[in-house]
Amino acid sequence: MTEQELTDRVVASFDTAKDERFREVMRSLVRHAHAFVRETGLAEDEWTAAIEFLTEAGHLTTDTRQEFVLLSDVLGISMLTVAVNEPALDGPAEPTESTVLGPFFVQDSPEIELGGDIAGGASGEPSWFSGTVTDTAGHPVAGARVEVWEADDDGMYDVQYEDGALAGRAHLFTDADGRYRFWGLTPTPYPIPDDGPVGRLLDRAGRSPMRAPHLHFKVTAPGFHPLVTHIFVADDPWLDSDSVFGVRDSLIRPFDRHEPGTPAPDGRRPQGTWTSASFDIVLRKE
Ligand code: BEZ
Ligand code: FE
Repeated sequence: MTEQELTDRVVASFDTAKDERFREVMRSLVRHAHAFVRETGLAEDEWTAAIEFLTEAGHLTTDTRQEFVLLSDVLGISMLTVAVNEPALDGPAEPTESTVLGPFFVQDSPEIELGGDIAGGASGEPSWFSGTVTDTAGHPVAGARVEVWEADDDGMYDVQYEDGALAGRAHLFTDADGRYRFWGLTPTPYPIPDDGPVGRLLDRAGRSPMRAPHLHFKVTAPGFHPLVTHIFVADDPWLDSDSVFGVRDSLIRPFDRHEPGTPAPDGRRPQGTWTSASFDIVLRKE
């Protein structure tokens, strides 16, 4: 059997699969994986090392530590999957672009009122976030569920805390005019977890684990495609080398800095400096 015959036989072994999409994906996976082995002339000990790498990633993975998501992220596969599924335009306003979900989304975040605070004890400089949720024709989307989560100023998400606290995350609903507003923290750069095999891979490549500062959004509303995205902080040096390739220019916003005691839009006068950013979100109809 020649090498090509081997590939052809493995591809054909999926002909009997009943599910058409499964058949298509598996045939393509085999073709590309075999081409990779051929192109690199993959040595047996290299394949063994790859399997050991994946085994270690599996052993490290728990409910709160997802090494395979990190691997997908640092190889740009998460972001490419986002990009190939990006919906086409369907109105005069472009739908807000998506980016990676990341491993730190949690289903049951606390609900806050409009203007509430998501920090829940997470440390950092206060930041006032506000904006609208509209459809592509510019009509407000009332009652949209806006989920937000971010790291504290030590670069830690609450799920990485040892005490199990919920902090730096919440959800709220847009008002009748499609508006939302809340207090969060000014996003700061932080490293993705790099104490496992993915961290070693980055190190070997001479790559940094740092993410450009951001706050995560997941916005859902009946009749609209769910949107998973971030707001990024303008002028940050990490924007050009985000470790998971998640930055999109359309998601970068200025964060205005305010002096201590300056009144915020809700009348509060934070004792220290604070920032504010606005981020209008456009959802695409289903
Ligand atoms: C995050 O932004 O939370 C994240 C994304 C990808 C990998 C690790 C963290
Ligand atoms: Fe993040």
